[in-house]
Amino acid sequence: MRFVQWSNGQKVPALGLGTWRMGESPRARKNEVKAVMQAFEMGYRLIDTAEMYGDGGAESVVGEAIQLAIGAGSVCREELIVVTKVLPSHATRDGVVRACERSLKRLAIDTVDLYLLHWRGATPLKETVAAFEQLRDQGRIQQWGVSNFDKSDMQQLWSFAEGPRCIANQVYYSASARNAEFDLFPWHREHSVVTMAYSPIDQGALARDATFDSIGRRHGVSPSAAALAWVLRQSDMLAIPKAVSAAHLRENYVAAQLELTAEDLAAVDARFPPPARKRPLAMI
Ligand SMILES: NC(=O)c1ccc[n+]([C@@H]2O[C@H](COP(=O)([O-])OP(=O)(O)OC[C@H]3O[C@@H](n4cnc5c(N)ncnc54)[C@H](OP(=O)(O)O)[C@@H]3O)[C@@H](O)[C@H]2O)c1
Repeated sequence: MRFVQWSNGQKVPALGLGTWRMGESPRARKNEVKAVMQAFEMGYRLIDTAEMYGDGGAESVVGEAIQLAIGAGSVCREELIVVTKVLPSHATRDGVVRACERSLKRLAIDTVDLYLLHWRGATPLKETVAAFEQLRDQGRIQQWGVSNFDKSDMQQLWSFAEGPRCIANQVYYSASARNAEFDLFPWHREHSVVTMAYSPIDQGALARDATFDSIGRRHGVSPSAAALAWVLRQSDMLAIPKAVSAAHLRENYVAAQLELTAEDLAAVDARFPPPARKRPLAMI
């Protein structure tokens, strides 16, 4: 596994597991809990979820899987990096604290490793940051960050005294969604903010892409693993593909060990050219 370093010095796995669309149906729950447990057995140690997913259902799937996996001895809590997100509609000073307590209960843990504002809403950022800092002081979260923030949002965040305590910005990024490369990623690097790439295989579309199919064949891996290795070619980038199928989980895990060649990278640039000008950050 490759690791990414947060600005506080902590090293976290560069490849994690997404959970959007989990926890939406009681019929699928058993299979989803099993998938998360299988992921832990395979070596996944970072998991991304949100209070929004399945209206708390995904957090509860993750919570059950964590408890069962710890009980079975396949993982211990200290090794896990649990990331969850607060909705903008709960982003007031008191709202964040209450939302975090509900998330902790569903996740069946005492502290969230990384707590993100899911996207920017009407609440002044300063108020949300004050709530994050309070939760951090109380040990209910270890670190906080944001999601779907473009460069101007990050600049505004950095204008507050506590803004630079933001560890990560989670954004839509895959070979087929490269807008953030233009000016957001350079800004992240300059300010030691880790990028968490969401939908890194473009919701499964890149697993069917001919360019990634050829790259995957050259390396003996799946197109999806090739698409993930492309995202992970950058040392300050974390990718959180979602998978429920055990075969997908296994295929994706190898991406963290895969180095693409200059020829591979040129083929991706030809198929999905890098942005030539500023475009707003895309969001799913
Ligand atoms: N912050 C935000 O606003 C935001 C927005 C979107 C997503 N996210 C986070 O990012 C995570 C990932 O994004 P995503 O779920 O939108 O998309 P994604 O990870 O790019 O793609 C997930 C889809 O690809 C399929 N898949 C996974 N591995 C595969 C493989 N090896 N071969 C073929 N298909 C494969 C999955 O199928 P199966 O499930 O059937 O295996 C699923 O349908 C989310 O789950 C969520 O945690 C955050």
